[in-house]
Amino acid sequence: MCGIFGCILKEGNAAPVIHQALKRLEYRGYDSVGEATIHEGKLYIKKDSGKIDEVHKIHNLDDLPGKIGIGHTRWATHGAPLQVNAHPHLDCAGQIAVVHNGIIENFAELRLELENKGHVFVSKTDTEVLAHLIEEALKSNPFLNLADAVLDAVRKVEGSYAIAVISPKEPNKIICARNESPLVLGLSDSALYCASDIPAFLPLTNKTVIIEDGELAILSSEGFEIRKISDSSLVVREPKIVDWTPEMAVKQGYPHFMLKEIHEQPACLRNTLRLQEHYLDLMATFLDRAKEVFLVACGTSYHACLAASYMFSKLAYLATYPVIASEFMEQHGKSVNIDSTILAVSQSGETADTIAAVNVARQRAATVLGLTNVIGSTLTRISRVYISQQSGPEIGVAATKTFTSQLSVLAQLALRLAKKRGKISQDEMDFIEAKLKKLPDIVETVITTQEEKVKAIAKKYKDSKVFFFLGRGISTATAYEGRLKLMEIAYVPSIAFPAGESKHGPISLVEEGFPVVFVCPKDDTHKTAIGNIMEMKARGASIIAVIEEGDEEVKRLADDYVEIPKGVPDVLSPIPFVIPLQLLAYHMAVEKGYDPDKPRNLAKSVTVK
Ligand code: G6P
Repeated sequence: MCGIFGCILKEGNAAPVIHQALKRLEYRGYDSVGEATIHEGKLYIKKDSGKIDEVHKIHNLDDLPGKIGIGHTRWATHGAPLQVNAHPHLDCAGQIAVVHNGIIENFAELRLELENKGHVFVSKTDTEVLAHLIEEALKSNPFLNLADAVLDAVRKVEGSYAIAVISPKEPNKIICARNESPLVLGLSDSALYCASDIPAFLPLTNKTVIIEDGELAILSSEGFEIRKISDSSLVVREPKIVDWTPEMAVKQGYPHFMLKEIHEQPACLRNTLRLQEHYLDLMATFLDRAKEVFLVACGTSYHACLAASYMFSKLAYLATYPVIASEFMEQHGKSVNIDSTILAVSQSGETADTIAAVNVARQRAATVLGLTNVIGSTLTRISRVYISQQSGPEIGVAATKTFTSQLSVLAQLALRLAKKRGKISQDEMDFIEAKLKKLPDIVETVITTQEEKVKAIAKKYKDSKVFFFLGRGISTATAYEGRLKLMEIAYVPSIAFPAGESKHGPISLVEEGFPVVFVCPKDDTHKTAIGNIMEMKARGASIIAVIEEGDEEVKRLADDYVEIPKGVPDVLSPIPFVIPLQLLAYHMAVEKGYDPDKPRNLAKSVTVK
C-alpha cells in the first residue's frame, strides 16, 4: 500500500502542494518519498528513502519548480527502501515519470523483454517497467500521444495499479489509470488533483470523481477525461461532494482504523496472491532441506504460526514447532544447530523477542527465514530469505489484516513445499489454490452478510465477565486469536483452549449463561466438536458458534451463530472463520465505550524484551 498524488495548478508551485498531500497520505506508507514536476519543458525530480519529514529536511521537497507534478509515499513491496527504489521512476531517456501503488505481477517477464530491447533498469521495483513500457510504446509509434502510450502500457501489465504519469513531451497533462488500487480525482476552480485517497486533497477541495477499475483519466489544464482501458471508450461521470471531516477521511469514513482494516482484508488477501513466486520456491527449498523447523513469533503472529503448523503437516507432511519467541531461547536455544531452520513471523519485523530468538538461532548457525510486512525492517536484514506479506501499514494496535495475510502466505508456502515433496496430487493442489483465490470474495461475503449479526451478539453479551473460545484442529489457532482480540481491545478476560482440552480443567468455570465461542468448521473435527459443544451446553453455557453455512446440527445447539460460506478447505478455514471474531472484539469494545484503536497498555510494535 503506497500513496500517489498528482496536481495541475492554475497558479503557484506544485511542489509544496504535493509535499503536504503526501503528508496526508503518509498513513499509507512511509519508507520513502519522491516528487517530480515539469517546468519550461524540463522534468525535475527529488526522491529518497526515509519518512517525509526526514527527506524534506535533507532535500527540501518544496523547491521543485512548475505548476504540475506527481508524488509518492512508499511502502516497499519490490526492492528495499533505498533511494534508487523510491518513486517516481523514469524511462531510459528521463522523459517519463511514473508513480504507482499496487503490484505488477508479470513485471519480471516484462522487464526481461524490455531489457532485450535495450532498456536499462536502475531499480528493483516492479513500477519501473511501466516507465519503460510507455517509452517503448512511444518509440515504436511516434504518432501516439502520452495517454495512448499509457493505455498501451497498462494493457500489457497484470496485477494491481493506480498510477500517475507525467512527461515534458506533453507538459500540461497527468495521465492516471487504475486497476484494483484506489484512485480519485479532486476538482477545484484553481487546480485538478489525482490521489490514492480523498484525504490527500480534502483541505483543498471536497469535489471528487472516483476512478473505477479498468479506467484511465487524462488531466490537463482544461479539465479531465475518463476512458475505458479495454477499448478507449469515453466514460462520463459527474463529480460528487464528500462531506467528510479530515479525520473521517483518513479512516475512509470508518469510525476507527481497526474497522477500516477489518474491511480491507479482501483487498489485502488479493495482494497476498501476488507474491513473487521465486521467493516462495526458495523458502520452500530451505524448509524441505531442514532437519527441524521452528515457527517463531509473538502475539497474533504466533497464532499464524500455530495455524501454519497444521498447514505444513496436513499439506506437506512436515512437522514444525510453533514457539512463542520469548520462550524460544529457554525451550530450544541449546538444541538449535546448523540443521535447524527458523521461520520467524513478524508483522513489524522489529518485535524484540522475535529478533532476539532469531539472533540466538543465527549464532548457532541455523537458517533464518522471515515473513514480515515491513521490507527494510530488522527481520528482513537478518533473514537468509524473506517474504513480504504486502498488507500495507496497519494502524490499529490489534492486528487484523496482517493476520489473515500471514495465513494466506503461509498456506501458499505449505502448498509449495507439498508440491516439492510430492506430497500432494496436482488435483488437490489445483483445488486448494482455486479456493485460496476465492478467499478474498468469501471474506467479503462474511463481512457484508454477518457484521450486523455479530454486532447484535456483542450487544447481547456485553456485560459477560468472562468468555471461552474453543476450537479443534487448526481452529484452535482461530480460537486463540479470537480470545486475544477480545481481551486486548474490549478488556474482557478470556480463555482459549483446544476444545478437547476443555474438560481437563476449564470446564469447571462454566455455569448458567457462560458465553462459549465455538469455532466450528465442517472439517474432520466437526463430529467431536459437537460433542464438546454438548458438554458445555449441559452445564448451562451459552453457545456462540461460528459455523459453515447450513450446518443445521450446530445451529440447533447454538444460542447464536454466524455463518461462513461453504467449501473452504480446513487448512484455509482460519482466514474466513477469524473475521467474525475480529468483528466481535471490535463491536464489543465499541459497546463498552472503549477506543479499539488505542487499547490501554499495549503498543503496535514491542521493541523491548
Ligand atoms: C504486539 C502487538 C500485536 C502483535 C505482536 C507481534 O503485541 O500489539 O498486535 O501481534 O506485537 O507483533 P509482530 O510485529 O512481531 O507481528
